[in-house]
Amino acid sequence: MNIVLKKIEKDDLELLRKWRMQENVTKYMLTDPIISIEDEINWYNKIMNDDTREDYVIMADNIRIGYYGITNIDRNLKSCYIGFYIGDDNYRGKGLFKEIQAMAEDIIINELKLMSINIEVLENNPIIKTYYKIGFENSNLINRHIVKNGESLVVINLNKQTNKQTNKQTNKQTNKQTNKHNLY
Ligand SMILES: CC(C)(COP(=O)(O)OP(=O)(O)OC[C@H]1O[C@@H](n2cnc3c(N)ncnc32)[C@H](O)[C@@H]1OP(=O)(O)O)[C@@H](O)C(=O)NCCC(=O)NCCS
Repeated sequence: MNIVLKKIEKDDLELLRKWRMQENVTKYMLTDPIISIEDEINWYNKIMNDDTREDYVIMADNIRIGYYGITNIDRNLKSCYIGFYIGDDNYRGKGLFKEIQAMAEDIIINELKLMSINIEVLENNPIIKTYYKIGFENSNLINRHIVKNGESLVVINLNKQTNKQTNKQTNKQTNKQTNKHNLY
């Protein structure tokens, strides 16, 4: 399947709104929002003028199947957060995740020139083990105060920096960012 990350356009909003309210998406997210058409348009207008994020529709063979957001982009710290889902159930469990993630990392590392990728995820989400397989690590940040259905929020991280000093600094600053955290 040919996977492409396409920047969000106005035409995508209705699909994104529907997906984001679906049970098979909200159950993995921190929030279960009810989103009106007006809310979605306001969100779109806001993100279009926000240079700390990039929002994509995941396309498989030209069909829209999900959402991938790169958020909290900090060009000084060279860090960001990611959040995503496959909204179309027909495309889940087909082994597409690694390719989608590789495309996103290509954008994050080679286009945006960032080095630290963070993801906040509920602690029982099965995708965590796959992230560990592709090199992410537990950042030892756990937001015990942010709980959904008894699950805490953990932060896992991929850091492309090798210099220890810089790593330390990034972790400290990641901590700060986590407090700011990002309710996608
Ligand atoms: C995360 C998500 C995009 C992955 O898509 P996917 O279609 O399941 O991806 P894949 O088929 O490539 O599977 C990825 C891994 O999950 C495993 N997996 C797939 N479906 C699973 C299920 N129902 N239960 C447990 N593991 C599952 C696969 O075995 C694979 O593991 P491996 O690569 O370590 O062997 C999708 O499950 C999703 O949209 N989840 C809800 C949103 C979410 O959790 N987002 C991440 C936090 S923001």
